[in-house]
Amino acid sequence: TPITSPDLSKCATGTNLNTQQPLDVNCCPPTSTQIIDYKLPPVNKMRFRPAAHLAGKEYFAKFEKAIALMKALPPDDPRNFMQQANVHCAYCNLTYQQTGDPKLKLQIHNCWHFYPWHRWYLYFYERILGKLIDDPTFGLPFWNWDNPDGMVMPQEFVRKESPLFNGRRNQQHLPPAVTDLAYSAQSPTNPKKIIPNNLTIMYSEMVRNGSKLEDFYGAKYVTGTKPDPGPGSVERGSHTAMHGWVGEATPSGEDMGNFYSTGRDPLFYSHHANVDRLWTIWRGLRESKPKDFPDSDWLNADFLFYDENAQLVRVKVVDTLDNEKMGYIYQDVDLPWLKNRP
Ligand code: C2O
Repeated sequence: TPITSPDLSKCATGTNLNTQQPLDVNCCPPTSTQIIDYKLPPVNKMRFRPAAHLAGKEYFAKFEKAIALMKALPPDDPRNFMQQANVHCAYCNLTYQQTGDPKLKLQIHNCWHFYPWHRWYLYFYERILGKLIDDPTFGLPFWNWDNPDGMVMPQEFVRKESPLFNGRRNQQHLPPAVTDLAYSAQSPTNPKKIIPNNLTIMYSEMVRNGSKLEDFYGAKYVTGTKPDPGPGSVERGSHTAMHGWVGEATPSGEDMGNFYSTGRDPLFYSHHANVDRLWTIWRGLRESKPKDFPDSDWLNADFLFYDENAQLVRVKVVDTLDNEKMGYIYQDVDLPWLKNRP
């Protein structure tokens, strides 16, 4: 049977997955007695998600305002910035029991729910921001790190006075440092080779290593599966490398380099908007090959989120397959890696 929504009232202290120690923070969300089965609302106006490096001043002024308002919400409002960060912690750091197999914990990474779950996470985060600035067309900016023009931390996130700033980042990786999609603290990449290497990595993850659905999505994960059955190509590769590249150069890697704290960096959501965009692009590249698992174990899995009205809702994987039906599109930019067949 598919993974189903956790019982929020059974949320417990999680585990710091970098150190394997119990977390010293509580990341459980507020509970609610009413859960609504979420229906995608009709799309009247499309939200537009721009590339961060192309978005411009006016857009960022709006975005910064929205984030500042989110940070200013009461701490116990599930739409508050820290509560939103904790959503990631709760679903990743082994705080929930698996419904149907309470001996096991729930972890939505390193498995076939990686893309759908994060799509929902960003979806509500974006709708909350849009509501706070009263803009139903507001879309998150994506960090276009698969394109040489976007291979640097977006400037707007680095300005100290900005609500997008975060002090817990690797100070060696501030602009103009070039993002390294093969980043590992142990084996630095030759700086002259980073850009071509990044493009080759993107080609491998998106084209070469994606012939089977599991290769791209990650391994099957159902009720009774132990956490971490195995990640897909992008999750394992560029996605994880970028978390480590942004986070502090310490073993626990806060904020971006650790699951429990990663959502505390506003850059996380732009990082993941790019991952989400890559999912859409990959589907386009598949042409007539299958794009989704037909299994109801995948399609009917469900998760809980608070929506932009602070209502607890139950959402399903099946509703994530088409971002346009979810009401947002991505700015069209070049895909230079498509030509980088190794
Ligand atoms: Cu939920 Cu990039 O991790």
